Amino acid sequence: MTSETKLYGLIGYPVKHSISPQIHNSAFKILNINAVYLTFEVKKEFLKKALDGIKALGIKGLNVTIPHKIDVIKYLDELSREAALIGAVNTILNDNEKLIGFNTDYTGILKTFEVHKVDLTEKKIVLLGAGGAAKAIAFAIAEKASSLIILNRTKRKALNLTRELSKKLKVNVSADSLTFESLKNNLKDADILVNATSVGMTPNINQTLVTKKFLRKDMVVLDVVYNPLETKLLKEAKEAKAKCINGVEMLVQQAAEAFKIWFRIEPPINEMRNAALKSLIGGRIN
Ligand SMILES: NC(=O)c1ccc[n+]([C@@H]2O[C@H](COP(=O)([O-])OP(=O)(O)OC[C@H]3O[C@@H](n4cnc5c(N)ncnc54)[C@H](OP(=O)(O)O)[C@@H]3O)[C@@H](O)[C@H]2O)c1
Repeated sequence: MTSETKLYGLIGYPVKHSISPQIHNSAFKILNINAVYLTFEVKKEFLKKALDGIKALGIKGLNVTIPHKIDVIKYLDELSREAALIGAVNTILNDNEKLIGFNTDYTGILKTFEVHKVDLTEKKIVLLGAGGAAKAIAFAIAEKASSLIILNRTKRKALNLTRELSKKLKVNVSADSLTFESLKNNLKDADILVNATSVGMTPNINQTLVTKKFLRKDMVVLDVVYNPLETKLLKEAKEAKAKCINGVEMLVQQAAEAFKIWFRIEPPINEMRNAALKSLIGGRIN
């Protein structure tokens, strides 16, 4: 580090579990970029001060995580199309003291399907969840799929999301509560199943929302949970011979997109993926 070293980072609460520092610092190292990526635990009441601090200290870019993805918007000067659509920001660029908000989960999920050679056009997609991750994913895939069904434990949240999608994108989406019956009815002819809930995440690794017999070999199953790398859902999908995609690719792709926004160069994606896998397999997440 020198007096020229540029600062990047992640704000959220909590952030200690994050592996974003390993992902971004590995990219800086391999490309010889004189920068460092740190985490900042920012409580809700200090969000405005933290945002003022970005400009005051000349922090070049930030990632944003729970609980600030929505609240941060009021302190930004501009939003990308995706961030405005979703109503949530996970990346900020400090462009000469103009703070621009982006949502790279949107591109992250699309790139993930691309990398795994999954074409979304004319597909029936069942999305589990209606929280932050599900919202970004729904906006990204709704225009491509032939039908999107959102199932959530709290039905009201799924209905709100479909209303927002229909209003902003003019797409045809439906919602229901997440039950054994709704899963059975909707998964029988679904092409793609996406779990965007936190079910199955460490320490609850023996939990899954989907009964194994609903999983088929002509189905793609993507779990956004990346800790553990193979959730119970993915383990059972593998046993059913479905095509399985874990949450790491989305994590890496959204980080790569943020890197691209900050540096306007191609990110070293293989290096970033290796760093993520090394951190996860090394048990740095809890
Ligand atoms: N791979 C990636 O890049 C990536 C990116 C973002 C997030 N994630 C992961 O995605 C997961 C969700 O994150 P988020 O930010 O969307 O969280 P969130 O906003 O808190 O949403 C949580 C979602 O999970 C559902 N849920 C939680 N416990 C449940 C249970 N026991 N049964 C049924 N549904 C349950 C919630 O349903 P209700 O609405 O009924 O509460 C809600 O839909 C986390 O594991 C996170 O680590 C991964």
